[in-house]
Amino acid sequence: MKGRIAVLLSGRGSNFRALYKATKEGKIPAEIVLVITDKKDAPGAESAREYGIETLYFRRKDYPDRVSFDMAIADAIEERNIDLICLAGYMRILTPEFVRRFKGRIMNIHPALLPAFPGLHAQKQAIDYGVRYSGATVHFVDEGVDSGPIILQAVVPVYQDDTEETLAERILKEEHRIYPEAVRLFFEGRLEIRGRKVFIREG
Ligand code: GAR
Repeated sequence: MKGRIAVLLSGRGSNFRALYKATKEGKIPAEIVLVITDKKDAPGAESAREYGIETLYFRRKDYPDRVSFDMAIADAIEERNIDLICLAGYMRILTPEFVRRFKGRIMNIHPALLPAFPGLHAQKQAIDYGVRYSGATVHFVDEGVDSGPIILQAVVPVYQDDTEETLAERILKEEHRIYPEAVRLFFEGRLEIRGRKVFIREG
């Protein structure tokens, strides 16, 4: 039976589309069956609707606090028997309550070589710091911010005349390559979390 993926996104959705393409091309033995957004007009959610994927919008204002908001999302995910939750430009920090419900089953993509430059504006942080290399990281989500066990990373050079936009674009190409790859490894049962490390079994 095919694995079942839920994607959480807030914006453009290019990583979501890269994952979707990989599932459709048979590169990932799973399908995206649910997309959840906290931004009604997120272009990523528009794409999901066009693809005919069930798409749910949760409005933070409708809930008294972060935990009840996250629990409503978690209930929707659980009802649909989801195996893996992929954060794809989801611009909210998940509550520990949410993370604990899906331990080892939430992945995130971050546009830097973690643990360098966690949080927002990672590409700008890299440029401002003056590093020669940055990149992308796919990791499991734990209760911290961008701190969970690292699955895959890709390195890109940072050039002296880079702007946040030019660097982001270079990193994004790698994001679209390594995110589907990490999800494939997950569904092939090849990822093992031991402490803060992820071991990848031979295929
Ligand atoms: C991506 O670059 C992703 O790595 C980043 O947001 C962008 C979303 O683009 N995520 C974070 O910064 C998370 N802290 P997308 O909507 O086109 O996939």
